[in-house]
Amino acid sequence: MEREKLVEEINRLKEERNAIIMAHNYQLPEVQDIADFLGDSLELARKAVNVDADVIVFAGVDFMAETAKILNPEKTVLLPAKGATCAMANMLKPEHIIEAKEKYPTAPVVLYVNSTAECKALADVTVTSANAAEIVGKLDSDVVIFGPDKNLAHYVAKQTGKKVIPVPEYGHCYVHKKFTVEDVERAKRLYPNAKLMVHPECEPEVQERADIIVSTGGMIRHAPEWSEWVVFTEREMVYRLSRLYPNIKFHAAREDAACIGMKAITLEDVYRSLRDMKYTIEVPEETAEKAKRAIERMLEMS
Ligand code: 13P
Ligand code: SF4
Repeated sequence: MEREKLVEEINRLKEERNAIIMAHNYQLPEVQDIADFLGDSLELARKAVNVDADVIVFAGVDFMAETAKILNPEKTVLLPAKGATCAMANMLKPEHIIEAKEKYPTAPVVLYVNSTAECKALADVTVTSANAAEIVGKLDSDVVIFGPDKNLAHYVAKQTGKKVIPVPEYGHCYVHKKFTVEDVERAKRLYPNAKLMVHPECEPEVQERADIIVSTGGMIRHAPEWSEWVVFTEREMVYRLSRLYPNIKFHAAREDAACIGMKAITLEDVYRSLRDMKYTIEVPEETAEKAKRAIERMLEMS
């Protein structure tokens, strides 16, 4: 089907189903363009609290759709493609948390929202890259168990001065791991007037060379502070920023920094998702109840 026709059909089905399309900032441009709400993980979780619709089509990765379902158990939450998953979230298993708890029984378990509902059910509080340092700073403990991103754990430890135990020790995002010090040097050579905006999932040596270290939502908020930026995160963020601020220059630090899970969703998938009501997200009730407490605590604390 042609793009125009697809958009027309999506809008028709949206009305018929009383549906809303929520999308992450890393989605393909064609999907960003039809979203009712676009945001970073925290903004999407907040927005999901009181959605005025019967159906949420979640154009993002599975843990984000799960969070929306946990916050809206009575609504239908659809993930448009089966392959839309987060490799980092899948690195953390409940056993890692249980093992760490045995070693540090009094340390709270702080989990990045990039984790499965099963793991979130074992957390005291969840965080996103936008509020991780703030929340860990507020916790009444100098030691915290933190998973699954070791680079975000490093950032949080630096910001708060607390002891942060990463679970698992090797948790990382393969997209953000691509950025190197050579990329920083090349960016500075090619764009001498630009500042560098870096996601905290990047390696510590890249973080150290950043002008700002922020979530994707933070990138949007801080962009107007300067006229030219090199963006160290998933490449579609440049589309999102350029559309919002046509007078500011944005350059992708690497064109190959693409998240396969985010890119699994096409406009056609969004259409089929609404047409066939697939793929429905289900979270077992007991897991959802426990995970909800950790997510709600995050929303209260930040
Ligand atoms: P944000 O919370 O910054 O949107 O990040 C989500 C994510 O998956 C980064 O890779
Ligand atoms: Fe997960 Fe990395 Fe993709 Fe973000 S960019 S969804 S952390 S794999």
